[in-house]
Amino acid sequence: MSIIDELIDKAMRRHIFKNREILRPDYIPDTLPHRENEIKRLAEILLPAIRGERPSNIFIYGLTGTGKTAVTKYVLRKLYEKARIKGLDNFTYAYINCRHTDTPYRVFAELASKVNVRVPFTGIATSEVFKRFLRGLDKMNKVMIIVLDEIDFLVRKHGDDVLYKLTRANEMLENSKVSLIGITNDINFVETLDPRIRSSLGEEELVFPPYDSLQLEDILRQRAKEAFNPDAIDSGVIELCAALAAREHGDARRALDLLRIAGEIAEREGASKVTVEHVYRARDELEKNRVEELLKTLPLHAKLVLLSITVQTMKNKYTTTGETYTYYTELAKNIGIEKLTQRRISDLINELDMLGIVNAKVISRGRYGKTKIITLSINPKLVLSVLSEDPRLAELVNHIRSR
Ligand SMILES: Nc1ncnc2c1ncn2[C@@H]1O[C@H](COP(=O)(O)OP(=O)(O)OP(=O)(O)O)[C@@H](O)[C@H]1O
Ligand SMILES: [Mg+2]
Repeated sequence: MSIIDELIDKAMRRHIFKNREILRPDYIPDTLPHRENEIKRLAEILLPAIRGERPSNIFIYGLTGTGKTAVTKYVLRKLYEKARIKGLDNFTYAYINCRHTDTPYRVFAELASKVNVRVPFTGIATSEVFKRFLRGLDKMNKVMIIVLDEIDFLVRKHGDDVLYKLTRANEMLENSKVSLIGITNDINFVETLDPRIRSSLGEEELVFPPYDSLQLEDILRQRAKEAFNPDAIDSGVIELCAALAAREHGDARRALDLLRIAGEIAEREGASKVTVEHVYRARDELEKNRVEELLKTLPLHAKLVLLSITVQTMKNKYTTTGETYTYYTELAKNIGIEKLTQRRISDLINELDMLGIVNAKVISRGRYGKTKIITLSINPKLVLSVLSEDPRLAELVNHIRSR
């Protein structure tokens, strides 16, 4: 059999997945186990919209992966569909993810498009876009529920003007009404909000608790039933995905990612079942992605410090702050940038320690006093490969690798 035949054969077998889409992060299943209370509360609060009355504004928070986005979209969709079936047409809604739609201009432009008002990509003032949106909405004679998901991204970058404007919108509307749902997973953000905006946005507040591992098992089982072929999952797989995710504060996204990637690994190697072994490999793969992201976003000097530690710990078991500083100084000179003080480098080492990239601990060397022992907590090859992608460091790293 030719290699092509073999590949095609393998692709046709499709042992593992029945419908992989079901495990995608933005897929919203027909039932959301263990969120019955949240669904009920949200639906009750929003219900007046069906009759054309303005629902209270709602502030939703909870840790990442606790179902905030899924529940909100689910409830709005269901309400909208039900109202339509009954011939009621009193409300509309807009879902905006503020991480993607990340400027006030784009938020208002998107809202405007929902009320059939076209605005140019640029060229008019943000406040003018807002006015046109309000005019368009007022003509529709409806309640509009506006969801601002991951709202902390917008406010941190551009302040709370969008929230301020939207919480006051009703004062400027005659025939229509606006009701807001703000969602965040950043509890600190809640504290930093202007008290007036907070009290107006938080007319109702919903807190989503984290899932425990048994709840995660139910969530996974229900998704797995549709996503995988029968018998494609070995015993213990669901339980392990749930347990690993529960350890990280009960994040359902993490649990689903583990299961999906484990399935992909199993399929790639032509296994007939997803096994516990695949789940562990999926965990390593996710961890690797996480570390890669983390390394990519480090500032330049932190990257140089990390590079120093990496090179030295590839030669010796550990390094020290002093040695690291000496090596770092050389590297900085090599790429032609001003070095930082030893004090700052010591801080950067502590930051890398807190991120779990290196491990730094102070030990006593008897009459020689104290010294800090530094080791690398992640794979040195991974560090070199990520740092070589930074154009400012590429040449340096390649030189180091070739030695
Ligand atoms: N009760 C549930 N039943 C089934 N799937 C769920 C449930 N809760 C969450 N999920 C799934 O887990 C993933 C994460 O959920 P969701 O996106 O709603 O989290 P979130 O609270 O919005 O997190 P973040 O704060 O990071 O945005 C999604 O794929 C979602 O479909
Ligand atoms: Mg979300």
